[in-house]
Amino acid sequence: MILKTMTNRRDFLRLSAAAAGMGGMRFSANAADAAKYGFQVLDGEAAAIFETLPYVQLLGVDSVGISWMTVAKATGRVTWSQDGWRTEHIAVHGEDGLLDAYSFVHKAVLRGVDLHKPLRYRIHSRRIGKFDIYGIGYAGGEVSYESTINALLPPDGTLSWAMMNDIHDNLRIFDCFLPHLSDVSTMCIFNGDVMEDLTYEEKFKRDFLHPFARVSHERRMPVWFLRGNHETRGQLARRLRDYVSLPRGRYFGAITLERVRFVFVDTGEDKADETPVYQGVNDFDGYIARETEWVKREVVSAEWKNARARIVVQHIPPQLSDGGWAPKLRRLDALNEVWKTANVTLMMGAHLHWWCWCDAWSGRPYPLVVGGGPRLGNPEKHDNATLTKCRLEGDRLSVKVLDQTGKTVIDKKLQIA
Ligand SMILES: [Fe+2]
Ligand SMILES: [Fe+2]
Repeated sequence: MILKTMTNRRDFLRLSAAAAGMGGMRFSANAADAAKYGFQVLDGEAAAIFETLPYVQLLGVDSVGISWMTVAKATGRVTWSQDGWRTEHIAVHGEDGLLDAYSFVHKAVLRGVDLHKPLRYRIHSRRIGKFDIYGIGYAGGEVSYESTINALLPPDGTLSWAMMNDIHDNLRIFDCFLPHLSDVSTMCIFNGDVMEDLTYEEKFKRDFLHPFARVSHERRMPVWFLRGNHETRGQLARRLRDYVSLPRGRYFGAITLERVRFVFVDTGEDKADETPVYQGVNDFDGYIARETEWVKREVVSAEWKNARARIVVQHIPPQLSDGGWAPKLRRLDALNEVWKTANVTLMMGAHLHWWCWCDAWSGRPYPLVVGGGPRLGNPEKHDNATLTKCRLEGDRLSVKVLDQTGKTVIDKKLQIA
């Protein structure tokens, strides 16, 4: 059975209301959460197997990852096409000769995708009723769900991307900002602290998987997830990578789109490894040092040097200005030192929970935009979640920041050499 994707919140509300009057219908999400937070609703066979709808993560210039969960242990595979199903490709996650099976969590990487074309894809899962050593039995047939993402790279060479950050489980923020993504086509970056913590799976589904699926389905675009300090906390933090697709299996990475180099840096926990509450189970000193070595190789690469613009995204920003806010952790110093001589076009930061634009200065010779976040006891600051929208047309980069009312609070233009 192939189900069509609902494309907007009105569809959701209509079907949600219909579902309320039909005893046999089941939500893909907890019904109360679905109604409250605008999650998509499924019925019939799809509801009987899919726990969360798929979300799409951009991974590379020709690859995307797709992740979803099922309500029972099942198989998972993806079929996809960019020519109206005349050519059908199959993607299945496998490790060490074992394909995805008998799991609640499913993901697959689609390789060979042309980002200039729309992508149609179907997730497929089949419930497994028996999994013995020499006898595996399916319970029912395979169920599919189809969706699409738009062409990420339009023919005129324009790039448009957005950044959301520091959501901290406040799912209403998605209601505020999803309508403003209608003119963004390349990706929506989540620059950390999507969740307050990763304590248990139900919360992870509600605050991460469902809203990311909303972005993929309602706005037809992929996300790029970058870890914040809060995603390093809680029992599930060590299993987060099982649920998400990561470029080259790492939380940091880079991609070149239309000769613009994007580098995504994981700044890790914002507390020292010796902080007593961690009881010796963190080693972000070593992790950041290794990542910094990777950044040093990145800034001397041809991809970086030959790019027409170089965009750095990192959750914890460097020092804002002379005498302004600066990260306390010394382990970030070496990383931020690299950027000083790397000819960065723009850095996109988060973490502070107040939005700001910071021109280049001698200690940070490149401009910095920081997205806002929910109130954290800084009433004198701009304590407001924001959507940062960037658009590169020709040699002009536009950076706009919208507050939760949709008002533009920052509007800057940068000339790209
Ligand atoms: Fe935060
Ligand atoms: Fe943070």
